[in-house]
This record gives sequence, structure tokens and C-alpha cells, in this order.
Amino acid sequence: MGEALLSGLLRAGRRAEDLMVTRRRADRGQELVERYGVELVSNVVAARKADTLIIAVKPQDIAGLLDEIAPEVRAGQLVVSLAAGVTTSFIESRLPDGVAVVRVMPNTPALVDEGMAAISRGAHCDDSHLEEAENLLRATSHVVRVPEKQLDAVTAVSGTGPAYVFYIVEAMIEAGVHLGLPRSTATELVVQTVVGSAKLLRDTGEHPTVLRERVTSPAGTTAAAVRRLEEGRVRADFLAAIEAARDRARELGSPS
Ligand SMILES: NC(=O)c1ccc[n+]([C@@H]2O[C@H](COP(=O)([O-])OP(=O)(O)OC[C@H]3O[C@@H](n4cnc5c(N)ncnc54)[C@H](OP(=O)(O)O)[C@@H]3O)[C@@H](O)[C@H]2O)c1
Repeated sequence: MGEALLSGLLRAGRRAEDLMVTRRRADRGQELVERYGVELVSNVVAARKADTLIIAVKPQDIAGLLDEIAPEVRAGQLVVSLAAGVTTSFIESRLPDGVAVVRVMPNTPALVDEGMAAISRGAHCDDSHLEEAENLLRATSHVVRVPEKQLDAVTAVSGTGPAYVFYIVEAMIEAGVHLGLPRSTATELVVQTVVGSAKLLRDTGEHPTVLRERVTSPAGTTAAAVRRLEEGRVRADFLAAIEAARDRARELGSPS
């Protein structure tokens, strides 16, 4: 995620001289320096020098990292955290008082500059902090602002969402193979159908039901397929699955 954001920022026109990266493994740090021409510094130096700190470590690593940088962090800096389930109040409690924290739920299409990110403000954030976080994330993603209490739902819908789409794509490819199509042909048909349908949804702004009804002739092929999906309770299962993801996000965010 961190590398996706770094490369997106550079593609969007930020200068490598204005960016610093930190690392845990030496070889990984060197790779980033060679690939992007950015300066490699320690966490402590980054915390001392940077106006904005982006934290892209796994949730289980964040407490140790915050303890390491806390002595250098000061009010006026902006800390943007991508760590799933880690609340702004947890981050604020490990840093000096008054530090602005923005929490982000990104998703992996950020790797191809088509991400969807939701951001929430911490206790010491003003609008300028949110705008700064939005400007950074817009390099790779669409961005919406949500109250922090909605972030578990966002995690379940868009954070986890790409996996649901991949799951449907897998199922459609398998179906094509069952119907006798070569796997490569089935894959090409399904992937482009998903890309095209997503673009149609976004570019027309039409409701999905309207688009679906447009391709559903009375007693036709789509009607036959949708009837089977309804009999299989696929819609109800999606609701239950997304609720399960939301509940799991809640559990991970508040370990007992
Ligand atoms: N919604 C989503 O789809 C989504 C997707 C991805 C990520 N996220 C969130 O984004 C964050 C990053 O996830 P990821 O999948 O990109 O994880 P990742 O591939 O494991 O990347 C984390 C990076 O942080 C480095 N790191 C760990 N501790 C460090 C420390 N103390 N100092 C400097 N660097 C350190 C790791 O170094 P090493 O390589 O040496 O271990 C690794 O390169 C996570 O918190 C995750 O919750 C959300």
C-alpha cells in the first residue's frame, strides 16, 4: 500500500526531493531508493523532518512504530494512517497532545490509480488536514470523508470489496469453462465484461437496476439467469457476507 501511494504521488507530479521513505528491511529500502529516487531515512528522522507522516505498516506493527517516533512528533504535524482497524484515538494516545491524525481505509485498486479511499478525522484535525490527506490520496484513489464510526462498514464494502469482485469473476470464468470455452477465452470475456460494466456504471451514473433492466428482455436469457440467482438467495448472501466482514472489522479493531 505504501509503495502504491509513493508511486502514485510521483506519477501525479510530486517531486522525489519532497518525499522520504523509511524501511524495516535494508534491501527493501534500497529497492525503493533505486526505483523511485527518493531519500531513505530512519523513522525517527522522518518524524523529525516531515510535515506529513504516512503510516503504512500492518496494524500489529503500529504500536511499536508510534512508540519509536513519538519523541520526535509535534503538534502541527499531520499523521495519516492506513492501518485497518486502528482508531484515531489509539494513535493520538501514543503521540504528543495536539497532533492531527487522519485515518484512511484504502483498497488495492490504488495500485492502478483506481482506488477507493474513505478518510476520517481525529480529534485535533481541521479541514486543512483533511484536504491535505485528500490531496495525497487522490494520486491513486477517489476519496470520500466519513465519520470514523462508519469505517468498519467502509472496510466491509470497499476495503474488502475487490475480493468480492474477484470471487464473482472466478465463478463466471469457471462457468464459461463448464460451457466449453477455453479458459483463456473465458477469462478475457469475463474480465473485459467487468471492466466495461464498471465503466458504464461510473460514466452514465445510472442506477444498476436500470442498466440491468435494459439488458433484460421478457423471457430472455438475462431473465433466466437472474431468476436462478434470486432462487439461490445470492442477494441475501451478499448482505450477510458484508455484515460478517463488518463484524470482523469491529472485532479486529477492539481486541479483548
Ligand atoms: N483495504 C485494503 O485493501 C488494504 C489493503 C492493504 C493494506 N491496507 C492497510 O494498509 C497497511 C499496509 O498494508 P500492506 O498490505 O501494504 O502491508 P505490507 O505489504 O506488509 O507493508 C507494510 C510495510 O511496512 C514496513 N514496516 C513494518 N514495520 C516497520 C517499521 N517499524 N518501520 C518501517 N517500516 C516498517 C514493512 O517492512 P518489511 O517489508 O520489512 O516487513 C512493509 O514493507 C496495513 O495497515 C493495512 O491494514 C488496507
